[in-house]
Amino acid sequence: MNMSSSALIIGASRGIGLGIVKQLSGRGWQVAATSRGTSPKDSPASVKWLTADINDQVQRQALKDQLSGHQFDLIFINAGVYGPAHQEVTQASDHDIFSLFMTNTFSPVRCASELLPLLKPQTGVLALMTSQLASLNENSSATYPLYAASKAALNMLTRGLLSETQLKNHTLLSVHPGWVQTDMGGKNATLTIEESTDGITKQVMAWSGKGGHHFIDYSGNILKW
Ligand SMILES: NC(=O)c1ccc[n+]([C@@H]2O[C@H](COP(=O)([O-])OP(=O)(O)OC[C@H]3O[C@@H](n4cnc5c(N)ncnc54)[C@H](OP(=O)(O)O)[C@@H]3O)[C@@H](O)[C@H]2O)c1
Repeated sequence: MNMSSSALIIGASRGIGLGIVKQLSGRGWQVAATSRGTSPKDSPASVKWLTADINDQVQRQALKDQLSGHQFDLIFINAGVYGPAHQEVTQASDHDIFSLFMTNTFSPVRCASELLPLLKPQTGVLALMTSQLASLNENSSATYPLYAASKAALNMLTRGLLSETQLKNHTLLSVHPGWVQTDMGGKNATLTIEESTDGITKQVMAWSGKGGHHFIDYSGNILKW
């Protein structure tokens, strides 16, 4: 990966997604990114913004059609939600649960699978944003259980993409960004968006060409599933 590298970031209107867009643009990458509405005011001028709600199959297909012919070095599915604030499975409505799992689990994997033909063979990296909370080892007390379960299921369905990514020697990453100061992470989080996304960007570049499926954090630690 070099100055002429290109990336597609899905769910980049704010927070960590926008941070990754800024990091890559700052390193000279050509970046395409998606939001559900208008493009962010503080986006680097060179970024190509497209519209997509990952839960909308028609919008995902339109996105794929618009990007036809592109070959990206990196496709990063970042979009995610926290779910109901109480995080209680017994209190959550069916709609809450459906919405959480569609956004955090099923739609990211559908999106990744549909966009995979746009990833460069050999050196291409497909990354999906997960959380350390998804790990039974790292989160043995099931903190934030609904959110954590949605990301644990995401990790398993991401593993389901491995056979397809191996056909072109892509590298598949499940990435934990750290605890980050965003709308989701809150003000008490330990990392700034810049610290997390600088690390994530370096990791993506370091893992290119390695192949396989890896659960890593922003600083390169390998996490237990
Ligand atoms: N912050 C943390 O400490 C932390 C820790 C571990 C993992 N993560 C994960 O990191 C990712 C980014 O989190 P964040 O902290 O940056 O959260 P955030 O500030 O709340 O941003 C979430 C992003 O996801 C987008 N999004 C949500 N639903 C979407 C949908 N249906 N279609 C397309 N885009 C959608 C949002 O777009 P809109 O602006 O349109 O809502 C926004 O751009 C998430 O997957 C999150 O689970 C975060």
